[in-house]
Amino acid sequence: MSVLHVSKAGSFDLQISNIAADKSISHRCAIFSLLSDKMSVVKNYLQAEDTLCTLNIIKSLGADVKYENKILYITPPSDIIEPPLILDCGNSGTAMRLLIGFLSSRNGFFVLHGDRYLALRPMKRVIAPLRDIGAKIDGRENANLSPICVRGSKLKPFNYKSSISSAQVKSALILAALNSKNDVPSVFSEPKLSRDHTEKMLKGMGADIRCKDDKIIIYPSKKPLQPIDITIPADPSSAFFFAVAAAITPNSKVILENVLLNKTRIEAYKILQKMGTYVEFIEEENRYENIGRIIVEYAPLKAVEVSENIAWLIDELPALSIAFACAQGVSTVKNAKELRVKESDRISAVVQNLNLCGIKATEREDGYDITGGEFKPFQVDSFGDHRIAMSFAVASIMCGGIVEDTECINTSFPNFTELLSRVTHIRIED
Ligand code: S3P
Repeated sequence: MSVLHVSKAGSFDLQISNIAADKSISHRCAIFSLLSDKMSVVKNYLQAEDTLCTLNIIKSLGADVKYENKILYITPPSDIIEPPLILDCGNSGTAMRLLIGFLSSRNGFFVLHGDRYLALRPMKRVIAPLRDIGAKIDGRENANLSPICVRGSKLKPFNYKSSISSAQVKSALILAALNSKNDVPSVFSEPKLSRDHTEKMLKGMGADIRCKDDKIIIYPSKKPLQPIDITIPADPSSAFFFAVAAAITPNSKVILENVLLNKTRIEAYKILQKMGTYVEFIEEENRYENIGRIIVEYAPLKAVEVSENIAWLIDELPALSIAFACAQGVSTVKNAKELRVKESDRISAVVQNLNLCGIKATEREDGYDITGGEFKPFQVDSFGDHRIAMSFAVASIMCGGIVEDTECINTSFPNFTELLSRVTHIRIED
């Protein structure tokens, strides 16, 4: 078990140009490349455990994958192969849910599994609507938990109103709709727009997907889509750990380079802004997505209430909680029940760990209250969750801390500790 010992940091002024590539877009590049009949070219694919699992899966499904001079070349098979072994999604809910949607209409029998954390995460949210349109899927607890078995079959078009705002649910259904029988379009809607990479990327590949008000209308694809040609920007959720580090350390500043600036992904930076931090977004490129630099500079923090746009904050709330703990007053998070079914139960993980840091935090079913205060040196567990591990590694710069079970950081941000060691001293105990 790897344990991080992180020392208290002084002020810093950093420019970071090698934040890990965006995880959501990387998974999608691997899976969506199978919708073309030509070679896709992907620069800056995330080399982390989760996204490497997805690459291994597409290889098992017949894709030819080459990685040369840091460029990924993916040649799809003419027909998906029925793999003899299970498809290992590792720790990734995104991989499992999107692949369930993709495979449910393909010829063959597929078994998806992952690690012990993924085995606890609900799959019914994608499987129930897919079963309603004819998908043959099974798994533990009536197909809510993995291992999940998919026997591909012809699917009907649908009109589905999701009760949760989830890009994973949306993407699984869009992938099913693209390959549904006859020419009738499917319609998907969700309470509030979740991250929209799937719609944007598939439209870019030539899919007939129309976004009208709150509805997404998906026409089945009669022919293969165009291949992908993309350079993946830095992941704003990963970059955010360094934004928080600057926001809680007096006289500090960080410039984060080449970051994805999609509006569904930068809401947490706007919350920091609302709390008093200086945050500036400078758009530099617009190819598929807005990309640019984010400048974050320390200023005293004041408490905030967060109850809206939760889908746009879901991955950053653990790190934001560290900023709440350093703010003047009581910060509140509401309507965030989804946090309970992420890589860990993030409501209980954040609250338990902050209490161990000497910070008053109380849990509610759909969120928490955090009273800003003084951190004391601490030792906490990651609960096997990469974002909990990195959030508390950042909290450690306040007064020194120890974070246990930190291998999970490799699922999304393998160079995190190397970058954090530009801010403070770190010792890794294996
Ligand atoms: C993701 C969507 C989000 C997010 C996850 C990545 C994606 O999950 O938490 O880390 O790439 O589609 P939900 O869509 O289930 O909220």
